Parts: sequence; structure tokens; C-alpha cells
Amino acid sequence: MNSKGWRIGVVGATGAVGRCFLSCLETTPIPITELRLFATPRSVGTRLPFRGEERSVVATSEGGFSGLDCVLLSAGAAASKQWAPAIRAAGAWAVDNSSQFRMDSATPLVVPEVNAASIPAQRRLIANPNCSTIQLVVALKPLLDRFGLARVFVATYQSASGKGQIGVDALREEMQGGRASSGAFPRTLLGNVIPEAGTFLEDGWTTEEEKLLFESRKILGRAALVVHPTCVRVPVEIAHSEAVYVELEQEATRDAVAAALREAPGLVFADSPDAYATALEAAGRDPVYVGRLRADRCSPRGFHFWVVADNLRKGAARNAVQIAEHLHARESAAQIADGRV
Ligand SMILES: NC(=O)c1ccc[n+]([C@@H]2O[C@H](COP(=O)([O-])OP(=O)(O)OC[C@H]3O[C@@H](n4cnc5c(N)ncnc54)[C@H](OP(=O)(O)O)[C@@H]3O)[C@@H](O)[C@H]2O)c1
Repeated sequence: MNSKGWRIGVVGATGAVGRCFLSCLETTPIPITELRLFATPRSVGTRLPFRGEERSVVATSEGGFSGLDCVLLSAGAAASKQWAPAIRAAGAWAVDNSSQFRMDSATPLVVPEVNAASIPAQRRLIANPNCSTIQLVVALKPLLDRFGLARVFVATYQSASGKGQIGVDALREEMQGGRASSGAFPRTLLGNVIPEAGTFLEDGWTTEEEKLLFESRKILGRAALVVHPTCVRVPVEIAHSEAVYVELEQEATRDAVAAALREAPGLVFADSPDAYATALEAAGRDPVYVGRLRADRCSPRGFHFWVVADNLRKGAARNAVQIAEHLHARESAAQIADGRV
């Protein structure tokens, strides 16, 4: 372990989120002394830019994690299941972007602005939540703390990149007049709105809707939080939008709710009705944008607002890198306290 410099690995470096990891790592304050990029054997030799140089991608292997301090995984649930034991055996932190371990009771599910305190001291695996959950809980947390949350309704407008590179490619093919051959989406996406994101469960919910319920409960530490989600795919390349309605436990004025949102970490609040952010404005940026705040006309405890964030950055890579920054800062502080540096 080295508190001054960290050796970092990225599994899934060639993917939509993996490439965004590299972009987020460009500006991280973590002093990176080595960066190893992993993908499948079919990507071996692919060169990816990082801090003015090109780095070669290697095939993921158990031995490849040796000596690393932290591995960021973004290669799907099966790959996380496959590689997590080897990362653990190598003694590195793992920050996993897949759904594989998110609901495992022994695995912390972390959004640093919301529950950084749940990060353990010992090196182990930390799960990064689903993209639509991350931006929702950043907005819900200040309201939960100040007023309590009785129930949350959320309708998502999720971008094509939420489906990975295959989703981006499918939308681009359709924009060029073609018909996407990959089957990334269940219907034509261009010019359309599809009320199906994720896969269907037996009761007609989708996996994306289920994640919004269970992951929000776990991150906010409210096992009985009431969340009513509907997840929708829209023909946008990057950034998810959400129309949110909350019923608070206490009555509150619009001004009090606005003040709570304005002070919340990681969140940019637009008070004026027409100053809301859209997907095009949020894409490529790190904050969660909240706007269109208005009191409900039927419930004195009801408030509506609009939440937008880049699903590849705050919804995935940036959140994972933020977790890594916490881990590195904590290890460095512990080493200084121990007199080891
Ligand atoms: N897109 C989002 O908005 C979003 C948000 C939050 C979380 N996530 C999660 O992040 C993960 C990656 O998503 P993505 O959108 O970046 O997917 P993607 O574009 O399809 O990329 C997948 C990456 O994983 C690599 N890979 C696949 N199987 C592997 C294996 N067995 N061992 C090592 N590498 C393997 C691929 O390598 P090759 O290029 O060599 O095939 C590629 O680099 C998923 O778990 C997804 O659920 C995505």
C-alpha cells in the first residue's frame, strides 16, 4: 500500500462507462503512479488516451491485479462476479459499477454526497449504484434530512447510453437512416418514447424500476421508503432526466424546500422556473441538476421537481472515482495518523 501514489486498474476500459472512467481519472487528485486498462481478449492492443499519452488495453486476468491499490470495474455483472475474488485476493479496493453486489447486505452501496460514512476501513468491494438511482438520491437526501419523505414518485427519461455503447451505436444508426441491427432497444428509439428500460419481471415491473426502489432504500438507509417508479427510454444520447414528485412527512414551504436543495452537496439548483437544465446541458458535466421546483396544488406536503445528470459521469464513472477519492484520502489520513508517512 502506498498513500502517496496509487496504482489503479480499470476493468471494462473500452466500454461506454470505462472510457468515461479515464476522462474522470484525468483530473482526479489521487496521485496515480500506474494505470492498467483491462477488457476482453478481443480488445487487446486497443490504445486509449490518458493524460496526453496512449495506454494499451490488456486482457483481464487474475494475475493482472497484482500490486494494484484500487480496481474500478465496469464490465457487467458477470465480469464483476468473475473478477471480484481475484481483486480481493490481490488486496486492492474494488469499486464495482455493475449490479452484481449492489443488494448484497455485506456490500456498501455508496453515493459519496449521501452515505460516505458507510465506507468501511478495510480494503474490500464497494458497489456503485445504478445511474438513475444516483441522481435521484442526491436530490432526495436533503429533503429526507430536513422534512422526512412519505413517498416518492419518479418517471425517468433515460438516454441511449444507459444501455452501454451498444445503445449509443443503435441510436446513431437510426439517426443515419438505418435500422439498428443490434436489438439494443425493444422498439425503434429515434422519434419515439419507450416505456421499457431494463428487462421485465414477473409482475410487470422492469429491472430498472426495481433498482430505483431497492437501491434508494439501501443508500438512504430507509428500508420502508415508498418509491413509485416508471422508467422510460428516450432518444437522447447522454444524460438521464427524471420528473420527481415527493410527499414530505412534514409540511414545508416552497422556500424551505428550495433552501434545502440549494445547500445540498453535488447538486446545482435552479430556482427560476425557466432555468432548468436539460440533457444536452448536463452531458459531459458532473453535478446533478435540479429545477422546476413547485409546490403541489392538492397536497400541502407535495413538491414536484426535475432532476438531470450525465448517466455516464455522475451516474457511473464520476461517482465511482469520487468513491475512490474518499478511499485514497482515508487511507492517506490513517497513514499520517499512524506516523507511517
Ligand atoms: N451506461 C450507463 O449509463 C451505466 C450506468 C451505471 C452503470 N452501468 C454499468 O456499467 C457496466 C458497463 O456498462 P457500459 O455501458 O460501459 O457497457 P459497454 O459499453 O457494453 O462496455 C463493457 C465493457 O466491459 C468489457 N467486458 C465485457 N465482459 C468482460 C469480461 N468478462 N472481462 C473483462 N472485461 C469485460 C468490454 O470489453 P470489450 O470492449 O473487449 O468487449 C467493455 O470494455 C454495466 O455493468 C452497466 O450496468 C452503466
